Amino acid sequence: MSRIAYVNGRYIPHREASVHIDDRGYQFADGVYEVIAIERDRMVDEGLHLKRLERSLGEIGIAAPMPEAALKAVMREVIRRNRVHDGIIYIQMTRGVAPRDHAFPGDAETQVVMTARRAKPANPKTAAEGARVITVPDLRWARCDIKSIALLPNILGKQQAREAGAYEAWQVDRDGNVTEGTSTNAWIVTKAGEVVTRAATNAILNGVTRLGVIRVIERAGFRFVERPFSVGEAKAAREAFLTSTTSYVTPVVRIDDSIVGDGKPGPLAQELGKFYRGYVEAGGQDA
Ligand code: PDD
Repeated sequence: MSRIAYVNGRYIPHREASVHIDDRGYQFADGVYEVIAIERDRMVDEGLHLKRLERSLGEIGIAAPMPEAALKAVMREVIRRNRVHDGIIYIQMTRGVAPRDHAFPGDAETQVVMTARRAKPANPKTAAEGARVITVPDLRWARCDIKSIALLPNILGKQQAREAGAYEAWQVDRDGNVTEGTSTNAWIVTKAGEVVTRAATNAILNGVTRLGVIRVIERAGFRFVERPFSVGEAKAAREAFLTSTTSYVTPVVRIDDSIVGDGKPGPLAQELGKFYRGYVEAGGQDA
């Protein structure tokens, strides 16, 4: 089956899909994106993703390309044409096509690209065995709350993780505290049984999965606090895990050369993973 991409109003074969060389996304990474999981023909927390997309656009002054109802219709059409029942949809919006000049062009139109592909959310092997993470300095800018397509520090961090045989790199700020992974949010469970993740400030992306897991934690009545935690605290924690659209709740069993807990996925992380799956099946935040 050939894949179909949506590019600025047209549905075209994926292999022929392209954007203009003066697209500001291509030249300046002047754009934003979303990745949404699809499970059993339904998008997971579509509403939260669209809200974050609208916010990202607004924070950098890119005009919404179409009303939300039209956007939702295109998303469904991209999923349908690619026959994706379980997988992900990728949405990218850039400021437009214009001769290269740093300042905003006067008359550019927001460019929209969407693709969808089949995928299993959360690699079952990693979920079962637990993931290894390394730590790297957080080299990013001061607005990590915006889901910008400018991902160079994230890419370099992830590559370092791959080369070290690890699943993810946790980025560490100048105070020695973990901000987040390169494409995931970071969590620990303290020896006292408290679930900890960093508050959603400009230092991290407020993950949609993070919000879902917080909802699940509240429902289950676990102890929870939003605060920074250091690399040392994470290494000494009882459990650690990470969350994202493509990783769901993935236990972390090793940070650099330190084994977390007993080196096996923690019971609380596994329970949260199970509860989160239940939350997804029940329709997420919209339920
Ligand atoms: N990444 N932090 C960063 C830096 C991210 O890029 C992501 C998502 C997350 C988790 O957010 P969410 O739960 O909404 O997926 C946290 C996506 C999946 C990506 O870039 O592919």
